[in-house]
Amino acid sequence: MLIPANQNPREQLAHRRLAAPDIRARKGTTPIVMLTSYHAHTARILDQHCDAILVGDSLGMVMHGLETTVPVTLDMMILQGHAVMRGSKHALVVVDLPFGTYEVSKEQAFTTAARVLKETGCGAVKLEGGQRMAETIRFLAERGVPVMAHVGLTPQSVNALGGFRAQGRDPADWAPIAADARAVTEAGAFAVVLEAIAEPLAAQITREVAVPTIGIGASPACDGQVLVLEDMLGLSPWTPKFVKRYTSLGPAIATAVASYAAEVKSRRFPGPEHVYAVRKPEAPS
Ligand code: KIV
Repeated sequence: MLIPANQNPREQLAHRRLAAPDIRARKGTTPIVMLTSYHAHTARILDQHCDAILVGDSLGMVMHGLETTVPVTLDMMILQGHAVMRGSKHALVVVDLPFGTYEVSKEQAFTTAARVLKETGCGAVKLEGGQRMAETIRFLAERGVPVMAHVGLTPQSVNALGGFRAQGRDPADWAPIAADARAVTEAGAFAVVLEAIAEPLAAQITREVAVPTIGIGASPACDGQVLVLEDMLGLSPWTPKFVKRYTSLGPAIATAVASYAAEVKSRRFPGPEHVYAVRKPEAPS
């Protein structure tokens, strides 16, 4: 669509998809709303309310029943990233780089990120890790790849961390986590996810860094919040402490499926309104 040059910036934003600089500019202003989505139908719904949609590698656990995100492949991320792009028009879509596709070198990270941007059409990628990933983030950012960083609990490192544990509960552990957040933001990340870290530490990092922090199990002081959609909808069998369930889709689906099963068995479904009658022959003119 051609946008008239004299249109004010707010009107222009209403016509185009949000981009990484729009999210970056929200530091310290109105909170950024972000949720995960892995497919077109939910992306269409989220798009009406979210500034950013994350195609998280949590899809491995949520959609495929894996125990961790470690086995998730790049092809899985690209397939679902493309679906989310087709379902949305407004939100910035951020796609996770999965474990093993970006850590070897900055060149490997660029090749992977370029494939994700080209094949999905998304606006940014997310990768996990603090100081160790700073050089890679700088390399990507300088080459036109918007990067959302992710520090604190980094689920791709679950095998090294020894489980999905909140980080920084002891103030003695704060310094390296704060240093991670500073390193990735100074390297050029346009935003940083803070996952499962002690609340005062998340608030302190939010004050310290120049880009928006997006909290998940972090702090209301963060510049935005993200949750896994199926967790907040009450569809996941188990949810961490930091999830608020806004509805109970699991029990609602179970009730609906039980009604369907009963109606199929008793031949009450399909009803007359769900079947096709034979067309009446047209009267000769
Ligand atoms: O994969 C994911 O869903 C994530 C969020 C938990 C931030 O990285």
